[in-house]
Amino acid sequence: MNDRRPEDRHPTAEGLLLRPFEDADAPALVEAYRDETLRRFTRRPMADVEQAARWLALQYEGRAAGTRYSFAVLEAGEAGEAGELVGNVALKRGAPGGETAEVGYWTAAPARGRGVAPRAVEALTAWAFDVFAHDGLIRIDLLHEGDNAASCRVAEKSGYAFTEIVPAFPPYPLDGHRHSRKRLDAAERHRSE
Ligand SMILES: CC(C)(COP(=O)(O)OP(=O)(O)OC[C@H]1O[C@@H](n2cnc3c(N)ncnc32)[C@H](O)[C@@H]1OP(=O)(O)O)[C@@H](O)C(=O)NCCC(=O)NCCS
Repeated sequence: MNDRRPEDRHPTAEGLLLRPFEDADAPALVEAYRDETLRRFTRRPMADVEQAARWLALQYEGRAAGTRYSFAVLEAGEAGEAGELVGNVALKRGAPGGETAEVGYWTAAPARGRGVAPRAVEALTAWAFDVFAHDGLIRIDLLHEGDNAASCRVAEKSGYAFTEIVPAFPPYPLDGHRHSRKRLDAAERHRSE
């Protein structure tokens, strides 16, 4: 008997493997967080494996609660084998069953500039609209700080249209951008092809 839930499937992206995070990812997470830019645009500290373990525990709890689906983004080898951890992409739902969700992401510094984040965001978006269609998900937002030009490019490349300026609020010192993508129903998708 196949008792896997739809959300237990993994998003797929060219040249990348996406899977839920595991305890064994802790050292690679700490290494990625040595980068100052990543620390600046993310909120949780990850200076050592203990902090990484706490972050991993939050990912496991969020997945079990249906509020956070984060995926380790790994380089895929030519034969499809898993390589280095190159990023993180996550779907955040305020509550299971909500109409809206938010996408978050980062790419490890050595892997930037190769379209890792747009491919991972595209894959997560397709996955989310597929597995949560029955559950009422109709829009995903992408928010970034106003001076994060690289993230704004990720939004554009992943089909998230700019929708509005979000006024600064703690802990964000600057106005930000909201970009959004909506689920196309089957008829709309057919017309847009
Ligand atoms: C924003 C971020 C996720 C982009 O990831 P990526 O996988 O490098 O995405 P791309 O390869 O599509 O590059 C996006 C933009 O980054 C910039 N960029 C290109 N090469 C780069 C490099 N080597 N290093 C840093 N930025 C680079 C360019 O502006 C590029 O846009 P372009 O394609 O128009 O030239 C990544 O820079 C990052 O992790 N930043 C820190 C965390 C963060 O900001 N997360 C998002 C919070 S909203």
